[in-house]
Amino acid sequence: MIDPSIIHFVPLKKPEGQTLALFIDESGALPPTAKFLDQKSRGTLSKAMGATDFKGKSKSVIEVLAPAELPFDRVLMTGVGKYEDHTPNDWLNIGGVLGAKFSGLKNGVAGVVAETNGKGAPISGESVANIALGMMLRSYKFKKYKTKKPDPAENDDLGGVSKIEIYCSSPNEASSHFAHLQAVGEGVVMARDLVNEPANVLGPLEFADRLRAFEDHGLDVEVLDEGKLAELKMLALLGVGQGSDKPTFAVVMRWNGTKNKRAKPIAFIGKGVTFDTGGISMKPAAGMEDMKGDMGGAACVAGLMLELAKRRAPVNVVGVVGLVENMNSGGAQRPGDIIISMSGQTIEILNTDAEGRLVLADLLTYTQEYIKPKFAVTLATLTGAIIVALGKEYAGVFSNNDQLCERLVSAGQDTDEKVWRLPLSAKYDKLIDSSTADMKNIGGRDAGSITAAQFLKRFVNNDLPWAHIDIAGTAMASPSTDINQSWGSGFGVRLLDRLVHRYYETPSPKDAAS
Ligand code: BES
Ligand code: MN
Ligand code: ZN
Repeated sequence: MIDPSIIHFVPLKKPEGQTLALFIDESGALPPTAKFLDQKSRGTLSKAMGATDFKGKSKSVIEVLAPAELPFDRVLMTGVGKYEDHTPNDWLNIGGVLGAKFSGLKNGVAGVVAETNGKGAPISGESVANIALGMMLRSYKFKKYKTKKPDPAENDDLGGVSKIEIYCSSPNEASSHFAHLQAVGEGVVMARDLVNEPANVLGPLEFADRLRAFEDHGLDVEVLDEGKLAELKMLALLGVGQGSDKPTFAVVMRWNGTKNKRAKPIAFIGKGVTFDTGGISMKPAAGMEDMKGDMGGAACVAGLMLELAKRRAPVNVVGVVGLVENMNSGGAQRPGDIIISMSGQTIEILNTDAEGRLVLADLLTYTQEYIKPKFAVTLATLTGAIIVALGKEYAGVFSNNDQLCERLVSAGQDTDEKVWRLPLSAKYDKLIDSSTADMKNIGGRDAGSITAAQFLKRFVNNDLPWAHIDIAGTAMASPSTDINQSWGSGFGVRLLDRLVHRYYETPSPKDAAS
């Protein structure tokens, strides 16, 4: 992946580099630098645009081999459409497209002239920083198990680029925005790495070890082992892991970014099932390999905590993850078993494949008892049913609190990590009543994502604002985008960063008002 430290924001001046990207918008009018280069090359650029019918449509790119008059090897005419209307997220995607085009460069110095035709406002520093993040995220590849290293000349992971200069009208503003976004990018990459890692390499213990290493960035990391979990009576979590040879852990990561140590933190809670066979209620063989990604919720929480620490965010946040393997053996939990959760409520296990909710149930109780957050968000690859309902475009969100839910929806719109609210209600809750225990761990065939959320809700105190995000469709195996080509998407890190930054950091006038 491109190393963010090679990206520099510099004032608009005569550009240099082997490859130069120029922005062309729908008006067809060339920006000043492009106009100058076109004249210098006796119309080569405008001729190329005419010959290819290039109209500056957003994210369309033509590659022009530079004529002798220009000091570049190639010029990338990059369409930016109706740029006046672009959000920072649109620029993120344009950066992604550029990241793809820059791949394959040999010993390349690349330049991007972030300049427009001058009729609208200049591209903001925030937008320019998003271009850089887009390049970074697009160039991510999970290649550690490829033993044949690519020929540097055919390098497709941007390792061949030694420097990227982004020419823009407000380089200082862009740099300071990128200081934040680079941390976000590194959090996304952490989440992708964790999700992509196979389950033989990343079990609960190895996952916990990777989180322990976050202490180097100033996070306080506490690992709860099986002895401690038993002492805490977290038998719902432990039950999920009892069929596996791999030990179960819970990990608590604390980031105290405000001076006020007693300010109630925000809590993010993630499902970290490092592999989900389904247990005795075993999953069919086809596609089971995808269940190495059943820790996408925990990966998202990990990525978020890391990026908050890296950018020293002025906020107190606690991340709690349950790390466990749902595996078969003579010791595995059976359908019909009844367990007592940490909350004291009893659960009849009717399907051992509905394990994520058991993990989260005890984490919710633990969080309320020991962290006492001002609100909590659970993240989990919880149900296949959410993919049936929403596909891979939206994650599902459930909440007992309209304000929190609206903030999540809005942060989703800003980042394009979208969430769609689904209902909770007493009638749905009734579907998980059990005749022998306080509840059963599955509802019927209907409304599977909702009954899963209702199950979680039984472990949430009424006065705690809580939201639950089902990311089964978006955390992994989702379609490639301009900024992600990898199986694990890192979904949720950008969404939650946005939520935290926009509403909960100090000083924040919005927060003070609410
Ligand atoms: N981890 C799965 C959900 C899942 C499915 C995630 C597909 C990603 C892609 C979860 O533990 C599960 O197995 N859920 C069951 C629940 C059912 C038994 C009530 C499901 O969705 O089928
Ligand atoms: Mn399962
Ligand atoms: Zn699962």
